[in-house]
Amino acid sequence: MVIRRFILTAVLLAAFVSGLCKPLHYALANVSGGLASDRRVALVIGNSRYGSVAPLVDPERDSRAVAATLTELGFSKVMLEADLPRDRFLSRLRTFAELADHADWAIVYFAGHGIEVNGDDFLLPVDARVLTDTDVESEAISLRQLTAATAKAANVRLVIIDASRSNPFFASTTREMGDHRNDEGLAPPGPTGDVAVVLSAKAGQLAREGGQFANSPFVASLVKSLRKPGLDLDASFHRTRNEVIVSTGGLQEPALYGTLPKLAANTAGRTGGISLSDDAAWESLGATVDRTSLTRFTEQFPRSPWSAAAHVRLAELQRALVISDAIRDDKSATDTIDDTPVTISCGTPGVELTFCEREVAIWARNTGNKVKVIPAPAPMDDRLNLYLKSLESQETNLDIMQIDVTWSGILADNLVDLYAYSSGTENESLPTALDAAVVSDRLVAMPWFVDSGLLFYRKDLLAKYGLKPPQTWEELAESAAAIQKGERARGKRKFQGFLFNGLAAEGLTCFALEMINAYGGQVKNDENGVLSIDAAATEQALKTMSGWIGNISPKRVVRLSEEAARQEFQNGNVAFMRNWPYVLHLTEENSSNLRGKVGVTPLPRGGVLGNRTGVLGGWQLAVSKYSRQRKKAASLVLFLTGIEVQKERAIEGGYAPALGALYRDPDVLKSNAIFPDMYTAVTNSIVRPSRLLGPKYDDFSTILREEVKDALSGKTSPEAAAEAINTRLYALRAPQQK
Ligand code: GLC
Repeated sequence: MVIRRFILTAVLLAAFVSGLCKPLHYALANVSGGLASDRRVALVIGNSRYGSVAPLVDPERDSRAVAATLTELGFSKVMLEADLPRDRFLSRLRTFAELADHADWAIVYFAGHGIEVNGDDFLLPVDARVLTDTDVESEAISLRQLTAATAKAANVRLVIIDASRSNPFFASTTREMGDHRNDEGLAPPGPTGDVAVVLSAKAGQLAREGGQFANSPFVASLVKSLRKPGLDLDASFHRTRNEVIVSTGGLQEPALYGTLPKLAANTAGRTGGISLSDDAAWESLGATVDRTSLTRFTEQFPRSPWSAAAHVRLAELQRALVISDAIRDDKSATDTIDDTPVTISCGTPGVELTFCEREVAIWARNTGNKVKVIPAPAPMDDRLNLYLKSLESQETNLDIMQIDVTWSGILADNLVDLYAYSSGTENESLPTALDAAVVSDRLVAMPWFVDSGLLFYRKDLLAKYGLKPPQTWEELAESAAAIQKGERARGKRKFQGFLFNGLAAEGLTCFALEMINAYGGQVKNDENGVLSIDAAATEQALKTMSGWIGNISPKRVVRLSEEAARQEFQNGNVAFMRNWPYVLHLTEENSSNLRGKVGVTPLPRGGVLGNRTGVLGGWQLAVSKYSRQRKKAASLVLFLTGIEVQKERAIEGGYAPALGALYRDPDVLKSNAIFPDMYTAVTNSIVRPSRLLGPKYDDFSTILREEVKDALSGKTSPEAAAEAINTRLYALRAPQQK
């Protein structure tokens, strides 16, 4: 039996033109874009807060955007529902079906998790606990129930599904269901009858997320197209489709099943519909940079779709003012010691240092300047301490530092605001990477490369033992044990099933968050700033981790950094390893004895439910406030983080670029097996709470890594460690947000 599950953030709009019985109606509608007497109803559902898995971000935001748009378009009733458990889901559907029975248009929007079982799509209420395919019928709501709810609407029944998120909710595929699994994207919906169904990403593709503050690309385009005066639904879909293809660089292609009618959602001039005067007013403003006119527009049309654009432009103008102040400031900075080399501290893992030396030499040659590269200490804590010491004592001999994404808040006050130099180039970075570089509206670093935790495995050994890459941590334990046993029996006495960075350092904080998230847990911050992590998920994660020690992982794993684990893996005596993306490039080098033998996959999920997500990592370049050569230093930073250098590092070194455009670059995509999926991985990675905690992040990380280390070494039980984490977090508290 085949079961396929996925995150389903779905916009469901059901439409059908009963063309035979209402020819006159259509003729009129085609001319006017709709009839003023149309009754149009919509049910809009955003399921975000699931009980058994990590919450989703997009559904809430996207459902609100769709509901707001339909309201503005003059729908007579828009039912906006959030976080529906099954019983309420059914009752809302019943209520809606009654409305739809007497309506001309019926639209249903659903955003949340979904499941496809043998070609049938099911949507998940927030209380769903689907453990086997047979649970689905009783736990979930079928797509057919939704389309049926729209069935009696007279003119428009339209279903659009924005699905297949890249951080999929892979529900269980228990053994009896067979091995055929496809965890990505949706299948085409079954027969849609009279209903047109639109999928935001065609079968097998992943839909892109919206990032922290934006709607998903699909919903952003959809609402824009629906608002276009006079644009009929069919044309709306095609416009949305084209826009999404362009905005995702061809990675996402919406698909239509069935037929959409030539009726416009924005019927120009209808009562209660979108006001055209805001369109006209916005048009008349053109590309104005006059702050007063823009502010007046937002006050006059607070609900207009253009108001958001006006706010964005106002924010840009504000930023421009700050930048010009900064540049004025900078003129006073001493920048005359041209013979003094610019000093840069670069990381050393893998081939980082070699690359850094090579790249700065090019800049030095091109500009006639001198550069001195200082290798950063390998242990991250030592490196942070070195930078802190240098900055606190206002040393002038360290101009540029390569800093972790979690250090921006810790070091911000001592770093130069690079907005003064960047000319907007920072905006080319992935939003998650840029978020990490901006502290209190200052660009304290330029993103350089990004990371996300991954599982590496030996393809040759999996094939030898007839195994597949594990999807759950439980499967990993079984497979690792089987390979370890087999290899040891064949004389490889030191063979290890699974290695990870168990050293009590930042890397262990990352892995602990990944494990907790695999079991559905995450860091929470309540309105009083109290931090907590789901105790049950933490306990389960720690149980799993400590269960490895002495079985598939050696006791000394608690002393291994990522680099140490990688080196051991490359010696050929390890089956599985958790690590960062740069590893694959090294195992593929000509000199590597593992060439062609290493596979990579997202980290497994915990149990049959759960998430397969890595922690977002990455590095940035920052300029010290005490540098006497800020301009030169900033110019080197911009060169190193520019597209040419990032592209070369990606292709030649396997570093995942921070620049979004490089994920559409064919040379980059084909250079390394990781890159095609990396965009999705990093845009959905777990973000450590360093922005939230600022300088206190270090304490958070210490709590987590210490407690996890104690659980791994058997000093405390997983239960006690989970409890201790929350007790210590309670004492920590996040700074209150304004
Ligand atoms: C990687 C990540 C970084 C993380 C570190 C932990 O270098 O890029 O963000 O903090 O690993 O060891």
